[in-house]
Amino acid sequence: MTAQLIDGNALAATVRAEVAHRVQALQARDVQPHLSIILVGDNPASQVYVRSKVADSQQTGLSATLERYPAELPQAELLARIAALNADPAVHGILVQLPLPPHMDAHAVIEAIAPAKDVDGFHVASAGALMVGQPGFRPCTPYGCMRMLQSIGLHDLRGRHAVVIGRSNIVGKPMAMMLLAQNATVTVCHSGTSDLAALTRQADIVVAAVGKRNVLTADMVKPGAVVIDVGMNRDDAGKLCGDVDFAGVRQVASWITPVPGGVGPMTRAMLLVNTIEAAERAAA
Ligand code: GUN
Repeated sequence: MTAQLIDGNALAATVRAEVAHRVQALQARDVQPHLSIILVGDNPASQVYVRSKVADSQQTGLSATLERYPAELPQAELLARIAALNADPAVHGILVQLPLPPHMDAHAVIEAIAPAKDVDGFHVASAGALMVGQPGFRPCTPYGCMRMLQSIGLHDLRGRHAVVIGRSNIVGKPMAMMLLAQNATVTVCHSGTSDLAALTRQADIVVAAVGKRNVLTADMVKPGAVVIDVGMNRDDAGKLCGDVDFAGVRQVASWITPVPGGVGPMTRAMLLVNTIEAAERAAA
């Protein structure tokens, strides 16, 4: 069997079109949805990410501003700026790009964002809402993965076993919660899990989110399984690759997400979904 590709670029375009439609509906009510992005310091990767977040927003009709501050910015000043954005009714979403400079406490900064504007879904209130099944904002990467599963007809996951490899606060843990909410049976593993292959071989759905190449190889995958690759690594030739041995696993799985062109574009698209959702809630 050769797996079919879940095309993240194509699905993200569909999601962006849905967002653009919702933006127009709000604009018709004289509400301009707005995302405020804060970048502290000059991390090169972060600069690329924030620029694409602004461009993505504007492409769908959302307005977005990027505020840049020097790496030496005192944390108190950042917190004061966040407080001002929290209080500004024209701002619907606030995103502080990570990583922050070492003198800052990223957790304290994220907790300063009003939960109603936490479009990254990183606030404890957002994590708590997800855990107890209340509306909140979902972290964009796992949210995008769920949308990818939906796109291939996997809505209710009752009777299916999902194995998540990786336990980060922004991918693995929320991913597990979202899969549970769709009634999947969920196993969360990590790099220290013994006999990982014995677990992944039972899985109908495998989500690999470790940040290491070849975490999932063909021998670890049940024939017909669906494989979602969250990884973003470089191979020996410097080419972008995921956590999954794509060429091998593709021969075993029924569906697989490519890297690039898989989860990455969906993560970006789901930020737009969260932002329009924040604006709609504020306008309700
Ligand atoms: N740095 C890398 N990915 C992300 C993200 O999704 N959100 C924020 N705020 N920072 C990041």
